[in-house]
Amino acid sequence: MHAKIFGHRGAMGEYPENTMLAFQKAIDAGVDGLEIDVHLTKDGEVVVIHDEHVDRTTDGIGAVKDMSFQTLRGLSAGSSFGAFEKYDPLIWTQERIPTLEEVMGLVVDHDIELNIELKTNVFEYEGIEGKVHDIVEAYSCSDRVIYSSFHLPSIIRMKAIDPEARIAWLTSKVPLWPIDQMEDLSLEALHVGYKSILKKPGRIAGIEDRIRVWTVNEMWEAEKLIDHGVQTLMTDYPEKIMALTKGTGKKIGHM
Ligand code: G3P
Ligand code: MG
Repeated sequence: MHAKIFGHRGAMGEYPENTMLAFQKAIDAGVDGLEIDVHLTKDGEVVVIHDEHVDRTTDGIGAVKDMSFQTLRGLSAGSSFGAFEKYDPLIWTQERIPTLEEVMGLVVDHDIELNIELKTNVFEYEGIEGKVHDIVEAYSCSDRVIYSSFHLPSIIRMKAIDPEARIAWLTSKVPLWPIDQMEDLSLEALHVGYKSILKKPGRIAGIEDRIRVWTVNEMWEAEKLIDHGVQTLMTDYPEKIMALTKGTGKKIGHM
């Protein structure tokens, strides 16, 4: 059994999260996939940012849903991360909040998967599922994309739009009766907080290969989770995790 490594928000432990710079660095490190978060601007652009508000990760303030794409695009998505060891003001301050289209343009050129997390658990962003699906289809990337959300209706809507869509329910803990949940909701996978699996590995018996975990940043935890049969690990530190496993014979990396 091998495990795949996904870069969480690109490589958020070392680079400005959810930026093209972070995605490129994760790809350079050799990840098997990227995890990104999406929201909708006031004028309906699908943009890649974690929070509902731009305040924490940019030099602006306000809710994404209340901003035009043009306004949001004027913000720096890297200047807030000046405390990072790798901070390079010349490059990082130029980073913008990416569109989903830009990320698809990167993904399509690489042999990787993409986990698009629909951030619909605070604001509904009516119609976001259809917009996201259209963009993915335009890049002919459906088979490489996994849609996930903490908000179950969002991934159920995605499945209604496209019965072939790969959907995953995001939860901090393994739900009761996970096999029932997965079958009844046609879930490809569960995306689970890794601590709940370290605590109770028996809860994923029989579905180990349909579990992706977030967010694993220590090697000993990664090794334990792989021993428990987990299929995919998301990490904030792709360079570290991939480098530590190179040449060690650990069962980690490309399948
Ligand atoms: O998709 C896994 C993980 O990203 C969920 O939590 O808050 O980092 O989006 P969050
Ligand atoms: Mg996420």
